[in-house]
This record gives sequence, C-alpha cells and structure tokens, in this order.
Amino acid sequence: MTSSTAVFDVSELGTSSYAVACEVRAGLMRPTKSLSPWLFYDEIGSELFEQITRVPEYYLTRTERELFEAHSPSILQEMGLPAAEEQTCQDSAQPAQLRRRVTIAELGAGTGTKTGILLRTLAAVQRNVVYQPIDVSASALEHATKLQVEIPGVVVRPRVANYAAEEYRIDRTAPCRVLALYIGSSIGNFAPEEARSVLKRLSAQLLPGDNLLLGTDRAPGRHKPVDRLRAAYDDAQGITARFNRNVLTRLNRELGANFALENFEHVVIWNPGESRIEMHLKSTTSQTVKLPANSAGPAMHIQFRAGETIHTENSYKFTEASVAELLSSAGFEVARTFLDTKELFALTLAKVI
Ligand code: AVI
Repeated sequence: MTSSTAVFDVSELGTSSYAVACEVRAGLMRPTKSLSPWLFYDEIGSELFEQITRVPEYYLTRTERELFEAHSPSILQEMGLPAAEEQTCQDSAQPAQLRRRVTIAELGAGTGTKTGILLRTLAAVQRNVVYQPIDVSASALEHATKLQVEIPGVVVRPRVANYAAEEYRIDRTAPCRVLALYIGSSIGNFAPEEARSVLKRLSAQLLPGDNLLLGTDRAPGRHKPVDRLRAAYDDAQGITARFNRNVLTRLNRELGANFALENFEHVVIWNPGESRIEMHLKSTTSQTVKLPANSAGPAMHIQFRAGETIHTENSYKFTEASVAELLSSAGFEVARTFLDTKELFALTLAKVI
C-alpha cells in the first residue's frame, strides 16, 4: 500500500506574507476595520482552533460528530445504498445511476474524525472507497491522508485547492456518484453571497444523482438561548479569546506590526438581524499601531479610538428554511435533514437539481 507521505506532495498556498500584507492593509484601512478570518489559521491559530473544538461550551464539533455516529447508515441509505447487514454487492434491480460506486469529496478537510465515521460505514457496504479531501492546507491534507491507513478499503486522493476562491476538479475517472461533504459549519464563515458562490462552484462540478452533505449551526431556539450560543465563542478558559487575539500576534511576527495585545479585548456579539455571531477585537484605549512598509505598500500608522473594534469573524447560524433557500439558490434540493435531539446542529443531505 502507498504510504501516507508518498501519496502527494503539496505546499501551503494562500498564506504567503504578500497575501497577508495585502489583506491586512485593505482591512485596517476600511472605515470599519476588519480582518479576514483565514488570517486566524497560522500554526498556533490552527492548534487553538483544535482546542476550541474540545471546550465544553463549543457544542458544534461534538454535536456534529454525534450526528455522524447516529446517522451515517441512514445518510447512505437515503442515497440508495444498502444497509451493511443487507448485502455487500450492489442490487441489480436499482437504477444504473444508483448502482454506481460512491466517491466522497470533502471541501476543507479538518482532522477527518467525523468523515472517518462515514467512510467506515461506506467501506462496510462498498469495496474500494475513494476519498478526495480538497483543502488549501497541506497539513490538513496530511491528516486526512492518514484515514487511508486507518480504514481498510479507503483510498485517499488529496487535492490542493482554495475551494473558496478558485476552480477545482472532483475526480470522476471511473464512473461514480459523488457525495460532497461540506461540514463543520464552515459555510457559516462566509457572507450569504460568498456562501452561495462556494456552493454554486460545487454544484457546477456535480451531476444528477450526486449529493451534498452540509453541516450548519442552528440559529437560537428552544434549546439554544442566545447566551449559550455566545458562550460557544467566549469560553470560560479563554481559548477563543486567545484564538482571536492570536491574529494580532501573527501580524506582529509576520509584518513587524506593534499591536499591544493587552490593549485589545475579545468581544462576541449576536447580531439577530444578520443571524450571525460576530467576533471583534476592541481597542480598550485610544492608540496608534505601526505597520512597517512591506511588499504590499508603505508604512502605515493605524489610529484606534477607545472602544473601536476590528471585526475578525462572522459565523452565520441557520434555520431549516434558510438552509433550504441557500441550497436551492445554488442548484441543490434538500433530501433529508438530520438533527440532534436538542436541535443544536444540522446535517442536511441535498441532491443536485
Ligand atoms: C471554523 N468555523 C466554523 C468556526 C466557527 O464556529 O465559526 C471558527 C470559530 N471561531 C471561533 N470559534 C470557532
């Protein structure tokens, strides 16, 4: 078998110091200062995000994993695959399209724990499962590639691409059906228009008979008061606050800026009109931060008023209706929604229209 390191050779994309410098200059020159959330994910930020997924208040990752554990067989059955105990060969009475092997393609790979649950279930009913993680990050793809070693019958074909901004290709060399995964509430970090274009770019790759499994965090409701939602982004251990402030450490290290971290406070706001959690860094004092000249432009002196914020992230929250609307505007139709008993998080199985 191919070893996990020999399968691909990729380098980190989209994180060059020029890209960082351009993004920071543009964001901090706006009348309402903002920084793009991709800036969070340097090595330390990625590790802090892993820690966030384990804090008690951040129910998203835990709940989505429980949904995979409870519903993976039903997700595959909804797609017309047999249950593991029924049979392992494809039923010849099924329409040809449904008899095709299922390939799993995932946008944004993460550590692969949740996808592993679905891959194991699929590998029990279909021999040779091809898994195509698509991500901009080499380290994420390296993690995902380990699934090939852990789950017999799974072959991982990683693909480096910035799926949020550029064209990419899902491999269909052999006739197959694609189950695209976009989980982890990652869609929530895009504004509605961007979210639609990410999903449209995906649906343009898919064919009738293909499916999408989308993971979304739910808007506040009966079991989710706004305070619980806010706490998920402002945990008692202060890990999310460190994650938010780490972006400034990154700008100090990579761009030579002189942000004093103690002068910026982690702020979390629920914005009901936009149905989103917002993270900000609030300047606690009136101050000037220096950004030396770099490849993207001349030196800058960035003025902050006391109380002024840098908007660092949006995390949109959905209802069943808003998920259905987003999906249909991107060329999908909801087939079935899987919710936990407290209706905190949703996995929506959709088909290509
Ligand atoms: C990656 N993304 C789905 C997370 C979220 O919940 O929006 C990022 C995050 N930001 C703070 N905590 C987690």
